[in-house]
Amino acid sequence: RDKVTVPAIKARKHATKLTMVTAYDAPMARIVDEAEIDMILVGDSVTTTVLGRPDTLAATVDIMVHHSAAVAQALPRALIVTDMPWLSYHISIEETTRNAGRLVREGKAEAVKLEGGRKRLPMVEALLAAEIPVMGHLGLTPQSVHAMGGYKVQGKELEAAHELLKDARALAEAGVFALVLEGIPDVLAQIITQEIDIPTIGIGAGPHCDGQVLVFHDILGLTTNHLPKFVRQYAQLAEIATSALKQYSADVQAGTFPADSETYHTHKEVARTLKN
Ligand code: KIV
Ligand code: NA
Repeated sequence: RDKVTVPAIKARKHATKLTMVTAYDAPMARIVDEAEIDMILVGDSVTTTVLGRPDTLAATVDIMVHHSAAVAQALPRALIVTDMPWLSYHISIEETTRNAGRLVREGKAEAVKLEGGRKRLPMVEALLAAEIPVMGHLGLTPQSVHAMGGYKVQGKELEAAHELLKDARALAEAGVFALVLEGIPDVLAQIITQEIDIPTIGIGAGPHCDGQVLVFHDILGLTTNHLPKFVRQYAQLAEIATSALKQYSADVQAGTFPADSETYHTHKEVARTLKN
């Protein structure tokens, strides 16, 4: 299997569906890559899934570098896309470029993702000018949680739908290589997908996108939180893990772990001397 590249992802528009799954460390990246998923997203969702925070606003460039570098250690065939955290691309073009540069240089990201449409265009253009591929993210953008007044489906009304379509067109024209559409109604996602010449990657955006993305912990049942409507759980790994750990605990109590085969044996003569 060949390494997945940004041009290869772009070329999948009008071809087979794209898949993306989050990962935050090396073993998770290996699992995702073994499944032949096209892209690994080192999402700022690491704050909620791994760091126990209620939202993604706590993510910093240091945190994203830390997890991105861990994912990169697995040398995945999948393209590594790393999220730019909140406030790392809002203050100035200079700070944006420096922060994305750290994700690439220290975090080994092969592309970065940032949230928002036309108001982020100067930052997007600066990153593209610095040769950093950019993935867009529109709709229910979790870094806007306070501005949106909670996690609510976006683009339901006609005017909001038109604004999202304009944002999508502007990002595509600026040169982003793919666009995440999160938490928007199906027909709006379908129209955006038809109107732009780069792949759309949906999450809670219906079946008409060019690809789909989900969070590792959600797909695999590692989350105990309430799951949104758009998540399909393909395994209950938390239950499997808990029952394995209960068995371990029971074996320790029963004295059946460790067994003789799991034990280092003291040399007979050393044992005799030690016991005397
Ligand atoms: O951080 C994340 O996991 C994401 C996806 C939900 C698209 O941005
Ligand atoms: Na994110």
